[in-house]
Amino acid sequence: MRHKRIVVTHYGGADALRVIEEECPEPESVQVRVRVDAAGVSLPDVMAREGVHPETPPVPFTPGWDLVGVVDRLGKDTSGIELGQTVAALPIHGAYAEFVCLPQSELVPVPSGLDPAEAVSLVLNYITAYQMMHRAAEVRPGQRVLIHGAAGGVGTALLQLGRLDRLQMYGTCSSRGAPTVSELGGVPVDYEHQDFVEEIHRLTGDGVDMVFDPIGGNHLWHSRKALRPGGTVVGYGLRSSMRGQGLASGRPGRRHRFGGTAAFGLVIAGGWLLPGKKRVVPYSIQTLKRLKPESFRQDLVALFELLRQQKIRPLIAKRFPLAAARQAQELLAHGGVTGKIVLVVNQDRPSLLGQQLPR
Ligand SMILES: NC(=O)c1ccc[n+]([C@@H]2O[C@H](COP(=O)([O-])OP(=O)(O)OC[C@H]3O[C@@H](n4cnc5c(N)ncnc54)[C@H](OP(=O)(O)O)[C@@H]3O)[C@@H](O)[C@H]2O)c1
Repeated sequence: MRHKRIVVTHYGGADALRVIEEECPEPESVQVRVRVDAAGVSLPDVMAREGVHPETPPVPFTPGWDLVGVVDRLGKDTSGIELGQTVAALPIHGAYAEFVCLPQSELVPVPSGLDPAEAVSLVLNYITAYQMMHRAAEVRPGQRVLIHGAAGGVGTALLQLGRLDRLQMYGTCSSRGAPTVSELGGVPVDYEHQDFVEEIHRLTGDGVDMVFDPIGGNHLWHSRKALRPGGTVVGYGLRSSMRGQGLASGRPGRRHRFGGTAAFGLVIAGGWLLPGKKRVVPYSIQTLKRLKPESFRQDLVALFELLRQQKIRPLIAKRFPLAAARQAQELLAHGGVTGKIVLVVNQDRPSLLGQQLPR
């Protein structure tokens, strides 16, 4: 049987994405083959395509941090997992494909009846938001928080989870994202036309307890200025290291995974050394998952339960077929997207479960 997957052929713009067709992968002994239903499109995918994300693999590679799909074939040494079961995973790369083989230990069961596009939004964006709030830092009801990029994938997740925790929320966004930020309970601050540090002090007096900052670089220093004494900045991205805002079309780049991390280290150290008891702490989903895989699993199960109970409702900005991965990444990089872009995969492929070979 053949399948399609997307490949990044060189580091650079969206023209680096190609669709290839090949034989379906076969699972090794403790692997499971998953027929992908939905794969998330996120800024880390765009950054890896540009070669600037710390998790960038060597080219050629298949992008895609997160997926939801159905177990379609079992390796001979797997146990306790059923054909036809819906599962989620965070492979970091590889999800932009019709079929993916992953170790069984990487898979988390998804409750039945959920929309795969909504479910996949939890795997990278909501886990990131949840773990920043409850593991990297510890938010308490009533605290004031500033969320940068509040209309984006992770930003809208922070707003929805922050509302459940009864936080007072402020969110930087462009004017296009302001209605969404208000609807989700945040006070929008226009990052293109306002100085967010001034605006936060005007709105709050002494500043906020916590800032979630995906921009990195100098931006972290400004975020620190928005804190009240004793506050914390959680730094979780290096958007500032992207070339041409992810639209560097036609310019082959190179793998440059650690740009901006030295500046990050300096800001963290400064947080401890400078007066004001203002801390800057880093968060990385992949590091925490490697160190504490059980926490990742536990948090994802808790988030699926919140989705099942309709206490959270991921915003799906747009659904694209797999072959339109390039357009999906271009749309994300252009900006003005509210919520998560999702690749909807295998929609027209009949179920293959009747054709399983014996294990
Ligand atoms: N550390 C981790 O474990 C982890 C995990 C997941 C994601 N991330 C990071 O999280 C970030 C967001 O990812 P995403 O997929 O949610 O991206 P996204 O959906 O594209 O959202 C990014 C948002 O940031 C806004 N923005 C751009 N420049 C800004 C600025 N200077 N100030 C404030 N807002 C700004 C954009 O608004 P407009 O488009 O309207 O301009 C957009 O709404 C990325 O940097 C990613 O690497 C980190």
